[in-house]
Amino acid sequence: MKIAIYPGTFDPITNGHIDVIERSSLIFDKVVVAVLEKSNNKKLVFDNKERLDLVNQSIADFTNVHAEVFDELLIKYAKFKDASIIIRGLRAISDFEYEFQMALMNRSLDSNISTVFLMPHQKYIHISSSLVKEVIALGGDISTYVPKHVQLLLEKKYS
Ligand code: COA
Repeated sequence: MKIAIYPGTFDPITNGHIDVIERSSLIFDKVVVAVLEKSNNKKLVFDNKERLDLVNQSIADFTNVHAEVFDELLIKYAKFKDASIIIRGLRAISDFEYEFQMALMNRSLDSNISTVFLMPHQKYIHISSSLVKEVIALGGDISTYVPKHVQLLLEKKYS
């Protein structure tokens, strides 16, 4: 059984993430969306429960996907989940250097776990969670970029 982990901050999940999750669910037997409990680099708008709830609502249609919060070294968590694959989305060349470093670090920590990069649909390659938050904070329309339940919670946060 091929188990894959899709880790991220998901603050909040966007249609770009969901696109990657859908592609992964067609390739792997089981996909675990792993929501990082806290980020050292990012000030988060949504707490753990909110981010997990938004992910859970977004993956309800995928029978082989489930989500959890994790708070440890990714490679340790992947091993604990019996996963041999880490999935990361690649949107543009600007993602490459950071992703390349993380993939090589993870591989040097455990060579049995490989990183697989998937490209979301081109209509999502310019979006990120921060940009979506910035647009809504300034009154812009984000309905193309996030599912309705995410949009509603964002509207509540920024009203
Ligand atoms: N569509 C839209 N946006 C996407 C996307 C997609 N398909 N893929 C990534 N993004 C965006 C995210 O929205 C996010 O935007 P933001 O910076 O504006 O919030 C950005 O790209 C990157 O975020 P994400 O994919 O969530 O990754 P991350 O860099 O926040 O998290 C972890 C990276 C969780 C994988 C990493 O920090 C980790 O493994 N942490 C655990 C500790 C560890 O093991 N550290 C050592 C790693 S070598």
